[in-house]
Amino acid sequence: MKRRVIIDCDPGIDDSMAIMLALRSEEIELAGITLTAGNCPLESCFSNVKKVLHHMGCPDIPVCLGADRPLKVPFVNAKPVHGCDGLGGSDLPEVPGAPDIRTALDFLKEELGKGGCSVIALGPMTNLAQLIMESPESFDAIEELVSMGGSFKSHGNISPVAEFNYWCDPDAAALVYDHLAKSGGHITMIGLDVTRRIVLTPSLLSLMERLNPREGAFIRKITGSYFDFHWKSERLIGCIVNDPLAVAYFLDHGMCRGIEAYTAVARDGICRGQCVVDEKAYYHRQANAAVMTDTDAARFFRLFFRRVLGASEADLDLIDRCLMAE
Ligand code: RIB
Ligand code: CA
Repeated sequence: MKRRVIIDCDPGIDDSMAIMLALRSEEIELAGITLTAGNCPLESCFSNVKKVLHHMGCPDIPVCLGADRPLKVPFVNAKPVHGCDGLGGSDLPEVPGAPDIRTALDFLKEELGKGGCSVIALGPMTNLAQLIMESPESFDAIEELVSMGGSFKSHGNISPVAEFNYWCDPDAAALVYDHLAKSGGHITMIGLDVTRRIVLTPSLLSLMERLNPREGAFIRKITGSYFDFHWKSERLIGCIVNDPLAVAYFLDHGMCRGIEAYTAVARDGICRGQCVVDEKAYYHRQANAAVMTDTDAARFFRLFFRRVLGASEADLDLIDRCLMAE
């Protein structure tokens, strides 16, 4: 049965790949995309998501503009990672079209108010925090909430201890986790502990191009600067594609394993954006989060290749060979 989903994101290279996976998965009815500033300014996010939807042949998906800055801290983008245009410096042709007349908040309230709608959050959680402040009952109506963000035992990617989405707007992340703790709600945190295992390598990218030249070429185009960033910053031959794992987990809960724990997010200071995961229950608080600690990269890439690239079962065995060759 199809499940209605809203993707809240900051496209963004890996956000774009996540949207591609969602659009090619028949279990998902993508009700709409809400945008937040993060990897790049809001207007770039809009420009980029239109390019992705155009490429995927899905121009009619509602795209709603959300927060253009964090709740409190100054906005800091991730252009050094995602390129000057937020899409790997691919400079794809602009796609005409205006955003939906509804703001992200209006759209979230309207869709969640119908019931039976889930949210996959792939960027800073400013829109969701504003929703809690404005209409907590709408937020509480979320059927399943999955967030790419945070880090438990893995080192940060924007500070020694923080992951970018939760660091970019720490007050929003803290507000969401605090609200969930008070309301008895629940979030699945797909953090760096698991997304670091999802590395698009040169051989996997070449395999993409061999199996599906059109999609492979598009992914190569948008990941160009992403490979360079990972080499310069982590001496990694490949690029970590964080966001698609959140969609893959939504599709297949066997994709990741983790722990249930009370989790909070540090708002400021040297630990800004750090996740405090109470694994040993020192605080005797009810778990508000499933914190993912393990995943299977081959299982992820098999799903991605099948859905986005149309790979046959026979082709999928080549993925294992690519992964083992690294
Ligand atoms: O830290 C990785 C996350 O921050 C990803 O969602 C990436 O797109 C950026 O938003
Ligand atoms: Ca993102």
